[in-house]
Amino acid sequence: MKQSKLTAILGLNWGDEGKGKLVDILAGKSHFVARFGGGANAGHTIYVDGKKFVLHQIPSGALHPQCKCVIGNGCVVHLPTVIEELEELKKAGINLTGRLFISDRSILLFDFHKELDGLRENSAKEGKKIGTTKRGIGPAYADKINRCAFRAGDLLHFEDFAERLQDRLEEINKIPGMPFKFDAMREINLYGDLAERLEGMICDASTMLREALEDGKPVLVEGAQAALLDIDFGTYPFVTSSTTTAGGIFSGLGIPPQATDIIGVAKAYTTRVGEGPFPTELLDADGDKMREIGHEYGATTGRPRRCGWMDLVATKYAAKINGCNSINLTKLDCLNDFPEIKVCIAYELNGEKIDTLPANILDYAKVKPIYETLPGWKSDTSKAKKIADLPAAARDYIKFIEKFTGIKVSYVGVGVEREAMAS
Ligand code: GDP
Ligand code: IMO
Ligand code: MG
Repeated sequence: MKQSKLTAILGLNWGDEGKGKLVDILAGKSHFVARFGGGANAGHTIYVDGKKFVLHQIPSGALHPQCKCVIGNGCVVHLPTVIEELEELKKAGINLTGRLFISDRSILLFDFHKELDGLRENSAKEGKKIGTTKRGIGPAYADKINRCAFRAGDLLHFEDFAERLQDRLEEINKIPGMPFKFDAMREINLYGDLAERLEGMICDASTMLREALEDGKPVLVEGAQAALLDIDFGTYPFVTSSTTTAGGIFSGLGIPPQATDIIGVAKAYTTRVGEGPFPTELLDADGDKMREIGHEYGATTGRPRRCGWMDLVATKYAAKINGCNSINLTKLDCLNDFPEIKVCIAYELNGEKIDTLPANILDYAKVKPIYETLPGWKSDTSKAKKIADLPAAARDYIKFIEKFTGIKVSYVGVGVEREAMAS
């Protein structure tokens, strides 16, 4: 067997670190880009020659014609979104015919899941809302675990699929508070149509990826969401409903555990969209400045992202859980105009200093950040091609992060474009 070449790009904070950009860069040399979890709650932004692409459901390898894209079994898939994205890409001259594959074991996410998501969020008490993307993620994963979901491969047995969907919609229509009744015939016809359009794409993606790895072909794994939104290790219950950390790669793609180059992506400051504790959040002019300079508005929902200083306690915790070999520090350019830069190096909880995330959310809501203040660089970084090209204070900031986490920073984002990456 040849040496496998598996690389994974995983978010180290609360999402939106800039994973899509690095995936797009590395996809140029990859045979496959595969998503192992999440669904259209993701919003991955790529800029090429001034043109912006935002992908939710389709992997960020799409822009490279040699790259095959896989939606793995660990994902929840809203097929109408897949079609919409395929059409958008086609309009931009990007054709995915013959290079998009959807695992036959991936879970179908229907519009009724989105309604259930919205219903739960709208009826939650103040302080208990998760601030989901309302893309139906929680209800779809709940159906998977509850063993009543529909899988993409079920579409290939359409008679049984239609019968089950009719029964499920009858159940859904009886749920108190449902704003309208789903028309079973309409949904069945829609999915009949989708089954025809997507037939060649629904396949045994696990075998396809395993064989590619056995052949020594490079496979890139695209993380969605991030470690602090992980269902087990995130800030539960203010998390998403999937495994976003490294362990999910193997179950979410159906490939055996193996040596993997894991690149963690962390912003040079921190953002969070949605509810839940955020120790370094800045509710002041610095936070607003980060939001404006970094254009911190959700790629999926357009919500303003909450902004704050880099949290090295959370980043190190995430990097250790993922077993990162290196870090991509992104959006360094967005700090160019700050005279001083703070980084959180420990938390204080009940008068004691701690260096990890407490499991309980009430404790996490109480932690206070302990900061180290570093000098800013107050100069342009956007032309840097190498990390060595960066101003000395920016390099010191990077060295501080490396020393604290024990992990090398191998890539530094200095702008939105594909080329704006120092390494
Ligand atoms: P993802 O979900 O992790 O792929 O990240 P998003 O696309 O949701 O959000 C990251 C945002 O930051 C996008 O608008 C990117 O275009 C932008 N971005 C990524 N890296 C950089 C960088 O190094 N500098 C700047 N200025 N913007 C970046
Ligand atoms: P990418 O892949 C940022 C957040 C939501 C909410 C919580 C649960 O672009 O980094 P969900 O809809 O998943 O049930 O919402 O998770 N969230 C994200 N935040 N980036 C994402 O994806 C996210 N996907 C989910 O805002 O707080
Ligand atoms: Mg995003």
